[in-house]
Formats: sequence, C-alpha cells, structure tokens
Amino acid sequence: MHNPPLPSGWTLSAYLQTQRRRIQQALTHLPVATPLPCPARQALQHGIDAGGKRFRPLMVLACADLYQQGHRQEMLQAALAVECIHCASVMLDDLPCMDDARLRRGTPTTHRVFGEAQTILAAMALVAQANLMLLGMAGKKQSILACLERLNQALGLQGLCAGQSLDLAAASEFDLSTLEGIHAYKTGALFLACVQLPCLLAGAPAREVAWLSAYARNLGLAFQVKDDLLDEAPSSLTGKDAHQDGKRRNFVHLLGRPAAEQLHEALMNAALDQLEPFGSACFHLRELTKHIRDRPS
Ligand code: IPE
Ligand code: IPE
Ligand code: MG
Ligand code: MG
Ligand code: MG
Repeated sequence: MHNPPLPSGWTLSAYLQTQRRRIQQALTHLPVATPLPCPARQALQHGIDAGGKRFRPLMVLACADLYQQGHRQEMLQAALAVECIHCASVMLDDLPCMDDARLRRGTPTTHRVFGEAQTILAAMALVAQANLMLLGMAGKKQSILACLERLNQALGLQGLCAGQSLDLAAASEFDLSTLEGIHAYKTGALFLACVQLPCLLAGAPAREVAWLSAYARNLGLAFQVKDDLLDEAPSSLTGKDAHQDGKRRNFVHLLGRPAAEQLHEALMNAALDQLEPFGSACFHLRELTKHIRDRPS
C-alpha cells in the first residue's frame, strides 16, 4: 500500500470534527414533517441523536470529495439518507425479537425508552425519511431515481434485510463462505451504497465506480469482522452490551481471535489497495478508512 503525502496543515481529527458537526447538525434538524408531536417522532430522534460514529455518512462525504466537492447539498442529503437507514437498522436489530440489546451508543436502546411498538414505527419512519430526502434532492431526475434504487436495494432482500434474516436463522454448522455472504449482505450492502450514491450523483466514470465498489465490499466485510471482534469488549468501550453474539454466528466463533484479526487486516488492506489508482486525490477517503480500521469501538 502506497501512502502519498497529506496536504500540509491537514489533519484527520480536524476534518472529522468538521464533517461530523455538519452531519450532526443536519440530523438534529431533520425535516421530519408530522402534524402531531407523537412518541414515534421522539423515538426517531432518540435513534439518530445518541452519538454514533457516523462512519457511513462520513464515507459518503469523503467519496464526494473525490469529485471536487460538487453537488454539495445533494451529497449531504445522500449521506443523511444512508445514516437514517443505518439508525433504523440498529433500532430494529436491538429489539427483544432480534438481539435483545439493552445498550447502544452508551445509552438505553430506543425500545427500552419508548417501547417496542414506537421503535418499530420510528424505524419505518426513518426509512420513509431517507427516501423522501433523496426524492427531495435537486439535480437530474435520472440520478435521483438511481440513488433511490441503490439505497433500497442495499436495504431490502438484496441487502441488509436478507443478511439480518439469515443471521437470525443461525444454524449451528456454518462455514466461512456462508458467513462472509451473510455479513456482506447485512453490513456490506449499506457500505456499498455509501460509495455508489456519490458516484451516481457525480456521474463518476464506470471504472472508478468499479474500484470504489470493490473497496466498499472489502471494507464492509472488514467492518463486520471488527464488530465481531469487539463483541467481547466491555460496554464502557463500545457503548453496547458485551457478548451479544452468543446466539449468533460470528467470525470469532468460526475462526478464533487471531485468524479473525488476520482476516480483518487482509480485508482492510484489500480495501486500501482499491484506492491506489486515485492517488493523492482520495486522501480523505484513505485516511478515513485507516481511522475506521483502527477504531477502538
Ligand atoms: C453497528 O454499526 C452495526 C453494524 C453494522 C456492525 P456502527 O458500529 O457503525 O454503529 P454506530 O452508528 O457507530 O453506533
Ligand atoms: C447488525 O449486526 C448489523 C445491522 C445490520 C444492524 P450486529 O448485531 O453485530 O450489530 P451490533 O453489534 O448490534 O451493533
Ligand atoms: Mg444483530
Ligand atoms: Mg446487534
Ligand atoms: Mg455486533
């Protein structure tokens, strides 16, 4: 992996702080129209407010930076749409009928505060909100429709829902390729959308879409391997319940810790290699990727 020098004066921490602030402000003021102040609206805000790492919207914005920061407002809306889907997915993932989690992002899970019914409604509303935000974008109708198609493919039974479904239907016997398939759907599909949406909005050339897609596939899988490694970490570090994966099949159960760590490293290196052809132009995405690789939680 080749590392071109960073522009002088640029720091990852300042970059992340600025981008996270943009994302957080926009999420706090999400334009969710509701005629009555209902509990599901509060549950929705609870599900998006409580300080996640925001890696998916950060990735959309870093990928957008490859294209000279064009379509600034649309890129932010795409980033928020992806984060809405992600937040909905973890609100549902935490329900008693799924992982039965008590803690998320260091606070009680949404269903523990607002109840299961309001949480399900809030998650549905977040999915609707993501679609409305994409539909409300300025720009070419064709690229907006393509973004809608990609995001919904990433969410539905070609993506996250299929992966979660298979994850829940855990069989006691499984092999590496089965597990990789499940995790590629449940986690990888949304990371793929994080690069494909900005590409669609920017009209990126096909070969660049192919490099970024290969990058995102590796990174998405690596992300879940690391999440599995972190399952044993204390709540004080992750903000989540420790040992959530007792009923699930994860990479650590299958491979053991050392091999899971090696797999994580290999996948992250493969992801970074896919960025090589962009050279110094993609330093935002490259540095963000290393930050995701090295995350403590
Ligand atoms: C958790 O994702 C769910 C997985 C797909 C593993 P994150 O670790 O990105 O969660 P937040 O948004 O930072 O809380
Ligand atoms: C969930 O995976 C992935 C989603 C699509 C939400 P996990 O169940 O391992 O995620 P965490 O550990 O609860 O965040
Ligand atoms: Mg789960
Ligand atoms: Mg879970
Ligand atoms: Mg997990």
